[in-house]
Amino acid sequence: DASDIEKGTYPHYMLKEIDEQPYVIRNIISKYQNENDTIKLDEDIRAAMTGADRIYIIAAGTSYHAGVVGKQLIEKIANKPVETHIASEFLYNMPLLSEKPLFIFISQSGETADLRGVLVETKKMGHKALTITNVPGSTLSRESDYTLHTYAGPEIAVASTKAYTAQMAVLAILAVDTARAAGVEMDFDPLQELAIVANAMETMADQKETLEQVAREFLSVTRNCFFIGRAMDYHVCLEGALKLKEISYIQAEGFAGGELKHGTIALIEEGTPVIGLATQEHVNLSIRGNIKEVVARGAYPCTISMEGFEEEDDTIVIPRVHEYLTPLVSVIPLQLISYYAALHRNCDVDKPRNLAKSVTVE
Ligand code: G6P
Repeated sequence: DASDIEKGTYPHYMLKEIDEQPYVIRNIISKYQNENDTIKLDEDIRAAMTGADRIYIIAAGTSYHAGVVGKQLIEKIANKPVETHIASEFLYNMPLLSEKPLFIFISQSGETADLRGVLVETKKMGHKALTITNVPGSTLSRESDYTLHTYAGPEIAVASTKAYTAQMAVLAILAVDTARAAGVEMDFDPLQELAIVANAMETMADQKETLEQVAREFLSVTRNCFFIGRAMDYHVCLEGALKLKEISYIQAEGFAGGELKHGTIALIEEGTPVIGLATQEHVNLSIRGNIKEVVARGAYPCTISMEGFEEEDDTIVIPRVHEYLTPLVSVIPLQLISYYAALHRNCDVDKPRNLAKSVTVE
């Protein structure tokens, strides 16, 4: 019961929920682990995943951002085509469906009306649905064929944090299970790698002072802020920007590093904060180049990189984790920057204006 959940010594639920992320990941590992260290997953879900020739992920808001990462994970690990769609648009711009589609609905609350609209229509068409949710027994969970639980515990703050990382963890496990069931060879053990992620997440808590300073100095008065990244980092930038908009009301955009020069770089002026993600080794030189381009135009850079190819002036260096799982760690500094930005702008962190935790109208 949400009313039983106490903030404890935390000033806000959001900060508490950010800090809970390592425990959530360890909880997920234990829930999805068999005694012999293999993945514990319902046979019916395994069969639905292997039987599908294409996956359609449907979600909204932060869950959509987890879905964008989920597409990468399932395609890269399980070698199965995936499309990720915004729920509210799906029925207007419905893609040509494959012969054996499987729909995956990702929803923290399991109550989002935009998703339910798609579920109802695709069910009428005879398609199967799997809901990945933090609330088993929710509407989407009850009305779909299968449910995967994200085990993040109640999320009270309107801005979603631990539910997002939990969704991505479950998607990674699902991707590997699907790959193994289909006999795809790989040397990626998600449960082991997630344990490394949980430890890396824990070290991010030690960076709070640095991140608060960034927020205080560069976000307490700014009008706008940009997040840039390439590959997996780009998807995390979308979530970083959404978080900042939601709770600090700063206009923020997440951009692909290479796309900035095609228009948006015109907005960079003296002191514009640009948060650069550089956790992807194979694109490191390119994103470093993009960061230099904005700095040359006066931007204030805050760079979040990963151990192994960090540079001297980087603001935050995250410990090394598997390249598939960097979003679970790199999002934490972004969540914290948003939190402190909201705090320094005197915003209501847990209950931002105009937003609701679960949106049950279309
Ligand atoms: C609302 C919330 C967002 C959330 C979105 C999807 O707009 O304010 O934080 O990401 O709904 O919610 P869901 O429960 O479906 O994940």
